[in-house]
Amino acid sequence: MGIGMVREEGEWSRKNESDDLTAALAEFISTLMFVFAGEGASMAIEKLATGGSATPAGLVAVALARTFALFVAISVSANISGGHINPAVTFGALMGGQITLLRGIMYWIAQLLGSTVACLLLKFATNGMTSSAYSLSAGVGVWNAFVFEIVMTFGLVYTVYATIADPRNAGMGIMAPMAIAFIVGANVLAGGAFDGASMNPAVSFGPALVSWSWENQWVYWAGPLIGGGLAGLVYELFFIEKI
Ligand SMILES: *[C@@H]1O[C@H](CO)[C@@H](O)[C@H](O)[C@H]1NC(C)=O
Repeated sequence: MGIGMVREEGEWSRKNESDDLTAALAEFISTLMFVFAGEGASMAIEKLATGGSATPAGLVAVALARTFALFVAISVSANISGGHINPAVTFGALMGGQITLLRGIMYWIAQLLGSTVACLLLKFATNGMTSSAYSLSAGVGVWNAFVFEIVMTFGLVYTVYATIADPRNAGMGIMAPMAIAFIVGANVLAGGAFDGASMNPAVSFGPALVSWSWENQWVYWAGPLIGGGLAGLVYELFFIEKI
């Protein structure tokens, strides 16, 4: 790309030539798969041992489930929708000018629906167990969680930008979704014991809706959107434009 060339659309969306509706469908299915495995894993641990998801082994198991599922969810949708699977990633892409507002809104709806359907299917499949909403552990304040979510989601969206949006790294192929899944898994190990380490408003929304508990829900939106938006701006300003 020549210096000074006007970009009407970012590299990210040029790679994905699917129309908005097809791309949104891919986001819906991938988010459903990701949330089903991630929330399902913590319900499975609760079934095996009540309170088990609050143990070190439970934390590792949930981190693994989320890492595996996100790797696959992004891999299968990367070349269709860009593999966002997360309203904070979509917001970051919007901040960096990589997608249109219409496409962004459609992605948000698809992601929130995908997460909700995953939680409803889990409730049905488990005979009424509900995926519990993301919440703060004892002794963790809402501002602590705010910082956790901002920093963790910054890392996530920064990685998405570097591996999927940056044309210099176009050759990363399947390593791109792997890198993104790794930072999410690592962040679950870091923040999971404090606030559940959501980094994704869709992931927090589905369980909150299905279990109808909205306490501190705002922090699981504000943190990821601020962290993700910041990552999009920083990457666009300092790295992508300097090719
Ligand atoms: C997307 O397509 C390109 C080739 O068109 C390929 O090199 C890359 O591995 C694909 N990405 C994923 C995640 O499948």
